[in-house]
Amino acid sequence: MIQKLKNLEKKAMLLEPEFEIRNKWISKIEEYTNNFLDDGVNNKTFTAFTNSQIDKISFDISENPESIESVLKELEIKVDIPGLNPASGGHLGYIPGGGVYTTALGDYLAAVFNKYAGIYYAGPGVVKLENSMIRWMCRITGFPITALGNLTSGGSVATLIAVATARDAKNITSKNIYKSVIYLTEQAHHSVKKAIRITGLGEAIIRYIPLTENFKMNSTELKKQIQKDISAGLNPFLIIASAGTTDTGAIDPLNEIADIAANHNLWMHTDAAYGGFFILLNSEKEKFKGIEKSDSVTIDPHKGLFLSYGLGAVLIKDVNALNQTHKYQANYMQDKIETISEPSPADLSPELTKHFRGLRMWISLKLFGLSPFKAALEEKLLLTRYFYEKIQKIGFEVGPFPDLSVMIYRYVPKNKDADAFNLNIVEEVKKDGKVFISSTVINEKVWLRLAVLSFRTHKSTIDYTLNLLKKIIAGNS
Ligand SMILES: Cc1ncc(COP(=O)(O)O)c(C=O)c1O
Repeated sequence: MIQKLKNLEKKAMLLEPEFEIRNKWISKIEEYTNNFLDDGVNNKTFTAFTNSQIDKISFDISENPESIESVLKELEIKVDIPGLNPASGGHLGYIPGGGVYTTALGDYLAAVFNKYAGIYYAGPGVVKLENSMIRWMCRITGFPITALGNLTSGGSVATLIAVATARDAKNITSKNIYKSVIYLTEQAHHSVKKAIRITGLGEAIIRYIPLTENFKMNSTELKKQIQKDISAGLNPFLIIASAGTTDTGAIDPLNEIADIAANHNLWMHTDAAYGGFFILLNSEKEKFKGIEKSDSVTIDPHKGLFLSYGLGAVLIKDVNALNQTHKYQANYMQDKIETISEPSPADLSPELTKHFRGLRMWISLKLFGLSPFKAALEEKLLLTRYFYEKIQKIGFEVGPFPDLSVMIYRYVPKNKDADAFNLNIVEEVKKDGKVFISSTVINEKVWLRLAVLSFRTHKSTIDYTLNLLKKIIAGNS
């Protein structure tokens, strides 16, 4: 037994590499990432691959170690090259993230120290830091000092937490679900619909409120529908509004929606996953008027704060309600010390052991200060307006003037199917690979989208895109 333990310890100690090995690994990783950042990050935004190429890739593991060089080579060929390069400023599709470098530093520190981020007792500083980040987001959103929330892996989980909390706060159970009503629009992000289904609210009545011509929730129709539903003996309980839709970047009339919610005692959730951080700009604050009256908000630092993927947030005004939905006690946790001033993330979310994801946000805000983030956000707005103007000169139709940094446009060729033509543009842009765009369907028409949210997107990127689109049109018309 003693000899066996000695042998096992010797082998297990391989998991504790000494300085020379750690240093070699980190140096090689630094070299690889620096090459990417200094040389290649914007070179290509899309690298085409075939399914059969990907099918041939495997990620086998074995009993034996491999060198850092061979691991990084494998990563480069199999992971980093194929498909979309979301770190590139040329990413103008979907909702770009970005990935400011300091995210990696925060994650590195979080991983090395492995501080426990679930419960205050184990990591008081960790919880205080994370709660401070949440309170900062509450403050910029106009939520009261008593509000809190949770740092999540992304917007979808944030919305899931909000919807589950709303369900319980409004006492929706099997007894009344059949007559309980949720209001949203067709422009709500599909994560909202997922949250409704996962929380068991798929059995409630879902009302899709008509949109205005600017693709915003029509608040007059909302009010009418709620009154109609109340008269019919139904139980309206939840409105989901958007502060920056994915398709067009539209902000719903939040103030009017909030007043309707308050008049009828409904929970209002605002999905500001994409648009939320634009509230930092004085010029844009007015557009968000009313968000502070929401009961809950989704806001994603991995979108509008340009952090790497893996950080969303839910803000909730009624912390008790959040707690009621998520808190559980376990015997083996009886020694934990609680504090009212700093609730633990584990009591406010489905997670127990969690990634210390607040560190990447704090370290980024500390090392850069807020000012370059605001400048980058303003730059994105202006770039979108610049594109909106220039693309029309090339002959494209455009949708509404953008509220934020997402807009839609389409080319309508003579004597050709416009939908097929625009879908083909997406493919041609992909073939070029330097930038990446995506499309959507609104009112049964295909539209191209421009989504400017990478901190690496600048005027040269937009000019390149405009020239490329011009060339594609010339080659296909
Ligand atoms: C408006 C909006 N809400 C929610 C989400 C979902 O966020 P996530 O992808 O971080 O889960 C997105 C994603 O693009 C979004 O654009």
